Amino acid sequence: MTQTITVIRGDGIGPEIMDATLHVLDAMNVGLSYEFADAGLVALEKHGELLPAATMDSIRKNRIALKSPLTTPVGEGFSSINVELRKRFDLYANVRPAKSFPNTKSRFPSGVDLITVRENTEGAYIGEGQTLSEDGETAMLTQKITRRGSERIVRYAFDLARKTGRKKVTVVHKANILKSTSGLFLKTAREVAQQYPDIQCNEMIVDNTCMQLVMRPEQFDIIVTTNLFGDIISDLCAGLVGGLGLAPGANIGTDAAIFEAVHGSAPDIAGKGIANPCALLLGAAQMLDHLGQPDKATKLREAIIATLEAKDSLTPDLGGEANTMAFAKAIASRATA
Ligand code: NAI
Ligand code: MG
Repeated sequence: MTQTITVIRGDGIGPEIMDATLHVLDAMNVGLSYEFADAGLVALEKHGELLPAATMDSIRKNRIALKSPLTTPVGEGFSSINVELRKRFDLYANVRPAKSFPNTKSRFPSGVDLITVRENTEGAYIGEGQTLSEDGETAMLTQKITRRGSERIVRYAFDLARKTGRKKVTVVHKANILKSTSGLFLKTAREVAQQYPDIQCNEMIVDNTCMQLVMRPEQFDIIVTTNLFGDIISDLCAGLVGGLGLAPGANIGTDAAIFEAVHGSAPDIAGKGIANPCALLLGAAQMLDHLGQPDKATKLREAIIATLEAKDSLTPDLGGEANTMAFAKAIASRATA
């Protein structure tokens, strides 16, 4: 059976890494067909809108989107198209795997294999209730945490642990100081954890978590936390394993899910055909997991690792001389071997 997904080719290096990714998916016969939709700068130029209604309709209908990076023009409409997409589709779970890969410039070329599950819709990050006093001396911000929001993200993390055979969920908080907000998150997390006796659960204060991640990242399996802490921790984790070129992310809601690379549109190298397609390919692997094709997802990840190990088809950011499509073709041939 063929499933249709929405494909957003995006801006800058977006089309280059998307073509490479679709080449690999097609070679692997994953049974997907693509409905292309525009967003970002390219949509603004073609349709006069950063996020056209037709694109929203396509995602709403197909429920799954694979998205390349978008350039958000400064001073044009909303602050970020990505934040807008999360809001409109209530994509409450931001899922960010961080795994050690061979032959990358990384502090931890082995040993790290963790997933950060970040709450995506509430907390200080969304900037609710921001005010600045008339004299410009005092700024305020409201931080809203709800039981419902906390429960569904923690439940997502525990369900993900079960689904992926992971053993431990670490609840990251600051409930010792932020007693009401982080306190409610932690209390709710404890209640949810009781319903998953098969999964180990521990609690860690966010500042200690940062130190532990840098010193002994191998102790973590799944991390679940609130929006702002998750924003910072997920980038920290990407840094542990070699940075943005290898970091995918998923934004998951009840009615839709969007899979992407974490990095941006890289205007400095756009059009040169030298962008590293791995982050988007790893996003596609997350999508295959989500679509119930874990065997294909594993095959794709293994092909990426084997290609990194072989070192013969890497893009310049990884120290090689290959172009984007040559890298993708090397991955595709290993994924179909
Ligand atoms: P960026 O991630 O696009 O680039 C940072 C640096 O990393 C650049 O030197 C770039 O060449 C390099 N880089 C990024 N991805 C790469 C890849 N796949 N292969 C090789 N090198 C890569 O971040 P920057 O420059 O801050 O943002 C550029 C644009 O991207 C901005 O308009 C920003 O708004 C947008 N952006 C979009 C995101 C999204 O759609 N998810 C996320 C982050 C930024
Ligand atoms: Mg971030």
